[in-house]
Amino acid sequence: MPESSRARTATRLADIPPTIFAEMSALAVRTGALNLGQGFPDADGPPEVVAAVERALASGRNQYAPGRGVPELRRAVAAHQQRHYALELDPDTQVAVTTGATEGVAAAMLGLVEPGDEVVVLEPWYDSYPAMLQVAGGVARPVTLRAPDFRIDLDELRAAVTPRTRFVLLNSPHNPTGTVLTRTELEAVAALAIEHDLVVITDEVYEHLVFTGHEHVPIATLPGMAQRTLTISSVGKSFSFTGWKVGWVSGPPALVDAVVAAKQWLTFTSGAPLQPAVAVALDEHDDWPAALARDLQERRDLLCAGLAAAGLPAVSLPQGTYFATSDVSTLGWDDGDAFCRALPDRAGVVAVPTQGFYAAPDAPGAGRHLVRWAFCKQRDVISAAVERLAGADLTA
Ligand SMILES: Cc1ncc(COP(=O)(O)O)c(C=O)c1O
Repeated sequence: MPESSRARTATRLADIPPTIFAEMSALAVRTGALNLGQGFPDADGPPEVVAAVERALASGRNQYAPGRGVPELRRAVAAHQQRHYALELDPDTQVAVTTGATEGVAAAMLGLVEPGDEVVVLEPWYDSYPAMLQVAGGVARPVTLRAPDFRIDLDELRAAVTPRTRFVLLNSPHNPTGTVLTRTELEAVAALAIEHDLVVITDEVYEHLVFTGHEHVPIATLPGMAQRTLTISSVGKSFSFTGWKVGWVSGPPALVDAVVAAKQWLTFTSGAPLQPAVAVALDEHDDWPAALARDLQERRDLLCAGLAAAGLPAVSLPQGTYFATSDVSTLGWDDGDAFCRALPDRAGVVAVPTQGFYAAPDAPGAGRHLVRWAFCKQRDVISAAVERLAGADLTA
């Protein structure tokens, strides 16, 4: 039966390619390759927190939660921000629960960005940012973090601000580069935000996954920034529950209200039985993400040593997150996407090309040649993957 000619994706989404993570995970499943592509752990978070969901399911917490989230989770988020960062938040007006950080980003774009507003955004970026900015009618003004160090060029940052700029969209610790923005970099962003009266939207989902010698500084803690910063985080990365899709936003009431204004028409409310369990995770298991970070640091080192042995050294040592980056031009490839598509056959391993995370991957210093490896996998998976890489012919 021929489909209606009207059965097509609206233009506001049609030119946005499908997310590369899903494509590469499907490739891993199809080829039986080891998946160092998509950033999800292959071990679950604390069993006590899983038990808390089971209790919630069995005790009748199965109907719609309040739109802003269950009170105990909003309180737990506020307490978490106070305990870790000395940020004071009213859980009733300054915290809202979202369906993952992804909905937090989407609702922030839809609830805050006017058509034509310019948004200064770090690239490479998490791919939902440009997609949702486009849907909202905003205009991305990318500031490129360049290999090998992936730092903010402060002159470029200042030059990206125009009279139409209203927002800065940050992500630290940063996916895919593993950069943790320094206090100095954040102070420069803060100074610019204050000078130009910009709102900062900051995605801090990897806030606890930071390695020795580095510190996560929430930009909301800098002087003058709490009143102009919307912070987004989620349980997924900190507690290895990426499939739960429970996130939250926090900040001044007007920014949180704008997110809720959009969220109510997107999902209305997020998974009711998961929310009390996430409150248990935040309230009672602070040591869990800290232990995860220590463990991930060892897995980072295992992966990076293996990549170097396979002729694909990480361009820099990741400071946080789950991710390391290699430059495949060292093996003669001029395109990371072609490399990643060949990799399952060549070596039985999947990685993710970074080029889709740039507005212009061929621009000087951008990421045509870069690929991302995830080290949030069990040690034997990482060891097997790097052994396969070392034993394969990976030259172009
Ligand atoms: C920077 C960044 N933000 C947000 C997300 C998604 O978070 P959630 O699963 O809570 O929607 C990810 C997941 O990979 C991410 O890397």
